Amino acid sequence: MHTEKEMPKHIAVIMDGNGRWAKKRNKPRLYGHREGAKAFEALIENCNDLKIPYLTVYMFSTENWKRPAEEVSGIFGLLEELYLKKINKLIKNDVRLHFIGNLSALPDSTQKTIQACEEKTKQCRSIQVNVAINYGGRDEIKAGVKALIEAGVKSDEVTEEVISSYLYTKDIPDPDLVIRTSGEMRLSNFLTWQTAYSELYFTDTLWPDFDKEELIKAVTYYQNRDRRFGGIAKEDSHA
Ligand code: FPP
Repeated sequence: MHTEKEMPKHIAVIMDGNGRWAKKRNKPRLYGHREGAKAFEALIENCNDLKIPYLTVYMFSTENWKRPAEEVSGIFGLLEELYLKKINKLIKNDVRLHFIGNLSALPDSTQKTIQACEEKTKQCRSIQVNVAINYGGRDEIKAGVKALIEAGVKSDEVTEEVISSYLYTKDIPDPDLVIRTSGEMRLSNFLTWQTAYSELYFTDTLWPDFDKEELIKAVTYYQNRDRRFGGIAKEDSHA
């Protein structure tokens, strides 16, 4: 990683592979999620150290309800645990927590935890961590279009900026870099609108093993990309 080269301002992460990590060790899936939550905490600290201002993680998708009820409630339970055990450390480290997704469909206790996380960290500015829960990219676009119509936006007023402003991620810059662990090479309905120009980084490492060294590898990959946004390479622009 080159500290003098441009750093990503927003990293989005699909934290995949907790189940396989646990299976390899003959442990229940929730044990893998628990280790995954530790890797998430470390990721926040590492991104904060690298002065990356935005981080978004995929914690629970609109499709994850298909998992056994015990696993679903276990994942939500980890969020409550994170709040109870780590909120003071997060505040001290100036970490702002924000949640995106269809939050009103979550269990009451999870909604309360989310509100408490947001309320307690609302003054924090070093890094904003967006946690996607009950999130789906298509669901987000559908909800945004409905809201836009209900607000009376006229068809000739619809621009990309207007659409962006009706998404859960309004006021958050698009991700520069998306990381997915565990060898799967797809976006799985994550930030569908926002990742149009993102660089994509895939690694076989399972999420609980994703450490600072892995993050630096991903950032280095990003720094070596030539981001053209549909234009031409910088060195060719004098022709
Ligand atoms: C993907 O692994 C992981 C999830 C669906 C859950 C992500 C949750 C965590 C990392 C815990 C984070 C906790 C907090 C508090 C943010 P998988 O279960 O799909 O793994 P597999 O593909 O190997 O089965």
